[in-house]
Amino acid sequence: MCGIIGYVGNKDAVPIIVDGLKKLEYRGYDSAGIAVYKQNSFDVVKQKGRLAALEARLAERPLSGRMGIGHTRWATHGEPSDVNSHPHVGSKNKIAVVHNGIIENYKHLKERLEHWGIPFASQTDSEVIAQLAEHYYNGDLLDTVIHVSTVLEGSYALGVMCVDDPDILIAIKKDNPLIIGVSDHGNFIASDVPAVLKHTNKVYYLNDKEIAVLRNNSVEFFNIDKEPLEKPLETITWNLDSAEKGGYPHFMLKEIMEQPKILRETINSAVNNYKSVIDTLDVAKFNKIVITACGSAYNAGVVAKYVFERLCRFPSVETELASEFRYRDAVINEKTLVVLVSQSGETADTIAAMREAKSKGAVTLSIVNVVGSTIAKEADFCLLTAAGPEIAVATTKAFSAQLVLLYILAVWFAVKLGKITQKVEQELMSQIAALPEKAEDILKQIDSIQKYASTCVGYKSIFFIGRNIDYAIALEGSLKLKEISYIHSEAYAGGELKHGTISLVEEDTLVVAISNCATLYGKIMSNAEQVISRGAKVLLIGNCPAAKPDDKLFCIALPESSELFSPSLSVIVLQLFSYYVAANKGLDIDKPRNLAKSVTVE
Ligand code: M6R
Repeated sequence: MCGIIGYVGNKDAVPIIVDGLKKLEYRGYDSAGIAVYKQNSFDVVKQKGRLAALEARLAERPLSGRMGIGHTRWATHGEPSDVNSHPHVGSKNKIAVVHNGIIENYKHLKERLEHWGIPFASQTDSEVIAQLAEHYYNGDLLDTVIHVSTVLEGSYALGVMCVDDPDILIAIKKDNPLIIGVSDHGNFIASDVPAVLKHTNKVYYLNDKEIAVLRNNSVEFFNIDKEPLEKPLETITWNLDSAEKGGYPHFMLKEIMEQPKILRETINSAVNNYKSVIDTLDVAKFNKIVITACGSAYNAGVVAKYVFERLCRFPSVETELASEFRYRDAVINEKTLVVLVSQSGETADTIAAMREAKSKGAVTLSIVNVVGSTIAKEADFCLLTAAGPEIAVATTKAFSAQLVLLYILAVWFAVKLGKITQKVEQELMSQIAALPEKAEDILKQIDSIQKYASTCVGYKSIFFIGRNIDYAIALEGSLKLKEISYIHSEAYAGGELKHGTISLVEEDTLVVAISNCATLYGKIMSNAEQVISRGAKVLLIGNCPAAKPDDKLFCIALPESSELFSPSLSVIVLQLFSYYVAANKGLDIDKPRNLAKSVTVE
C-alpha cells in the first residue's frame, strides 16, 4: 500500500530517492518522507500531502547523503500527518525504518515498549519496528533485523539503517513486495521496478523472510537463520519509457491508448509460451473452476465465467471476490481449479485466497502482470499478461490483458475437454486475434467520446446496465467511473432494473446501456425505453445498427465482433468515457483520492 525506496552508493541519495518515490507514488500518496545518514545521525524530512509537498520542503531544507531511505504513504494506522509519515526513527535516534504493510500485533508491542519507558512519537504501527530494533540492537544490525522479524506479526517490506553503520542498508520482506536493484554506482531497495529503472535493469526479487544486506559495492542475501543465500539476478526487459507518460496528460490515457499493442503482445505471448503449459494440465479432472480476485480483476473473472461456461460447458464455474472466498470455507478440493487474477500479484486478499485454495488441495493457476510477484511465484501455474508497467491507479490495459488471456484459456480448455473442434478453436482464436485492430478502430472515436463525456460532468449518479456478458462488463464500467470521477454509479443486470433500481430513475438520470448480445438486443432496448420514458437519458454502447439516436439516446457504435469477446471492445469506450468525465472535472485521474494501486493490506 505504500512505496519504499532506499539507496547506498557513490552518488547523492536524495535526488535518487525523490525520483524513485515519484515512480512509486501510485502506491500511496497521502504523505512522504526521506531519511539520510549523516555523521552518526540521520537527517529526516517528512511531509503530509503529495510528493510535491515533500519536494517543496526539501527545497527549503536540503538534505544530502550517500545512503538513505524514502517512503510514500497510504495511511492505515494513524491519520496522514507529518509525524505519522515515514521514515520512523527510534527514540534513541539510532535506527531508521521505512515500512510497507501492517504490523498486526503492534498494539501489544507498543504497550510493552511503553511499559519499558520508550516514548512513541506517532500513532503508526510502523514506529514499533524502529523502537523494537533499537531495543534489541546489540551492535549487529543484521542480527537485530532478524530478531525483530521473529517478533512481528503481519506483513512488511522494510528498509532499515543504523547510525553505527554508515554504509549498510538492510531489507527484509514478508507478504509485501521488495526488489533489490544493483548498479555501477550503488545499490537499491524498492517496492517496484520502475523506481530503479533509471539506474539499472538488473534486479533481485526478495522472497519472504529473506534478508538483503546492501553496501555501496555489494549485495548479500541471508535466510532468517543468517545462512548466506544465492539468488538469481534478473534482467528487466522493459525500458523506462513504459513507466513515463510519453506526452499524454495522464498515465491512464496513455495506458488506454496502449491497449491494441498490449492485446497483441498478450495474445502472442500466450500462443508462444503458454499453450504447452496448459497442455500439461489435466483439465478433465476438475469438476469446478473458481475464479477469484478483487476489484477490476474480479470483474475480468465475471466476464470469464460467461466465456468458460459457454465454451467449456463446465459443471461449475464460479467467480468470487477473494476477500469473501478466503473466509468462506469454500467446498473445494483437488478436483477444483482456482484461477487467481491480479495485476500486481500482491493483493493481500487474493494471496490469502490462493493460500486457502492450496491448503485445501486445489490446483491454482494465476494470471498476473507483475513478474516475480507473490501470486506469480506461489501459484501452481502462472500465465503472465504482457501489459508492462501500469502506473495509473485505475487499471485499463492490465484489465484488457487479463480478459484476453482468460478468453484464450477458455478456448484451450474447451479443446482439451473435447467441447469444441479444432476448426472452432481456429475460428475463435482468429476472432481473438482480430481484437487489437478493432480496439484501434474504437480509439479513433476518441473525439466523440470526449465530447459526449464533457456533457456528463454534472451527474450525481450514473447507472450501467447490460444483460449476460454485457452485464459483466457493465460492472467494470461502473467501477472505473466511480474510482476516478467520484460520481456514484452502480451496474445492474438489465432484467433486475424493474426489481428495485428503476425507483432511482428520474428526470435527466443517465443510464449507460451496453448491448452486444444479439439475442438480447430487444430486451436491453426495452430497458432503455423504460428509463427514457421516466425522464432518463441513455448512452448506448454496442453493435446496434438498428438504434435511432435522438436527444435522449446517444449511441457509440462498436465494430462487429463475437458476443463472447465483445467486452474487450465495450470496455475501451467505458474507460474513455470515465477518463473524460474525470478530466472535465479537473480531477487527479492517476491518483484518485483514498485509493492506491496495490492493496497489500486487508
Ligand atoms: O493488483 P490487482 O489486480 O490484484 O488489484 C485488484 C484491485 O485492487 C484493482 O483491480 C482495483 O480495483 C483497481 N483500482 C481497479 O481500477
